[in-house]
Order: sequence, then structure tokens, then C-alpha cells
Amino acid sequence: MQSMTVKPMWDGFGVEITGIDLSKPDTETQDKVVELFHLHGAVVVRDQNLNPEQQMAFTERFGEPETNTRLEYTYPGEPRIYVISNKKVGGKDIGDYQAGLGWHTDSSYLEKPAMCTMLHALEVPAEGSDTLLADLCAAYRALPEETQRKIDNLKIHHSYQALMDMKGVTLSDKQKAELPDVVHPMVRTHPADGRKALWVSTGTTRGVIGMENPEGLELIQKMVTHATSEPFVHAHKWRKGDVLIWDNRCTLHRGTPFDVSKYVRLVHRSWVKGDRPV
Ligand code: SIN
Repeated sequence: MQSMTVKPMWDGFGVEITGIDLSKPDTETQDKVVELFHLHGAVVVRDQNLNPEQQMAFTERFGEPETNTRLEYTYPGEPRIYVISNKKVGGKDIGDYQAGLGWHTDSSYLEKPAMCTMLHALEVPAEGSDTLLADLCAAYRALPEETQRKIDNLKIHHSYQALMDMKGVTLSDKQKAELPDVVHPMVRTHPADGRKALWVSTGTTRGVIGMENPEGLELIQKMVTHATSEPFVHAHKWRKGDVLIWDNRCTLHRGTPFDVSKYVRLVHRSWVKGDRPV
């Protein structure tokens, strides 16, 4: 196993790893990173240069890679990698540069949402484009006990169609049938150690089961506002070569804008399938 330096990224959330090379087929080192990931909410491994094949080999150490529902910006020949970029080749966009600008947890519209998301930065703007991560366990712990009791058994209605409606995308009947609405708990228990997360999101949410709207949607928004308030949010400032992996079971995340007329951003994203939230 390669020796690694592990440091806390932020107070009580996330770790930074240096001194290893993930492109090597060294599963022992990679599995140590996976172990840290399950306990810390997010991991950044600095100074990497992974081709798509190497990124997918590392992704597979976390579990089974998830496919993408929108294929137009996936990497040629590797549809499990989604290209986030404002770069053009031959006058054509090679990626989606506006992926994930609102607070969300990935694929919460699926019965089994993605467990983790991995972003590998190949080109980074000199300013802007931070990825923000909200620590949903700290957000849950900070709620008054009475609020925790009130929300502990609530369930949220999530919908892929709601997300696509918001983006102005019309779904075919086949897509609608393949991605039916789902119901998930508002408070999610992490399988690694039983910690609880305030598992709310925006974009896919239609309301709270057993509650009328607007009260249901207002409650979700109130919880998102709490979870994404200053004490729980951490900004990842990108360096070229970073591999950032976050745990969707206990975080919300969002991208932030940058000056697309001045800078290029090129990031390769992969996902790992998850379990049904409990
Ligand atoms: C995402 O939400 O998948 C991407 C976030 C980012 O581009 O920083």
C-alpha cells in the first residue's frame, strides 16, 4: 500500500489525501480511500491525472458505477463519465457546464439514489466554480430536539419529471415509465455508523407525504435553508488534478458560476449506485 498523508479538510467534515497515485492498479491504497470516504462525508485526493479508464477503475472500488440518464454530454466511448465543461471542440460543446447549480443530492428521483459522486478536475478556472458541500449530519444535529422528533418519520415525494419540468425538458412516455416518482425519508440513517442526516433536496421534491402543499414544500424549503446555512456549508476550491468524492447519503452539493468568457473548466464526473434510503 502507498503511504498517504490524511488531513481534515474542514472542521468535522471531509479529509484531504496527498502522496498517492490513483492511476496505479493498487487496490489496497484505493480501498483505504473508500474506507475514509464512508466515515467523513467527503474526500479530496490531490494531484491526480486519471484517464477515463483509470477513473472508472477507481470508481468501481466504491461499488457499481451508475449510468447517466442524459447521454449527450457523456465521454465518447465511456457513457459512465459525464463531462462538465464549457469547452468547445470544432465549435461544438463537449460538455454541460451548468450541471448542478442548485442545491441537491444526486439522483434523489431514483428508488436507489447514487451513493457517491466523483469529480476529477482536468482544467480549472483561476477563480469561481467552487463546489459547495453541505454537511447534512451536522445540520440534523443542530436542529432542536422537538423539530427532530417532528421530522424523524416524515417522507418526501421525489420526481424526475418535476426536475425536468424545471429545466424545460419534455419527457417521452418511455422515460416517464422508466423513472416513476419515488418516496424517501426526510431523515436518513448512514449505514456505516448510524449517523442521521437531514436528507432534503431541491429540484426533485414535490411535497411531504400526508401534508398538503404549500405546507409540505415550505417545510422542505425551510429544512434546505437550514442545511445550507453558513455553519454547515464548505466550499471546495478546485486545483487541477483534484479528485473530489462526496457521500450523497449525508450531503447536499451545488456548483457555482465562473466567467465562461475568460476561463475553461473541464471536469469528469462518475457516480456509484446506492441503496434504498432508510
Ligand atoms: C454536480 O452537481 O454534479 C456538479 C457540481 C460542480 O460542477 O461543481
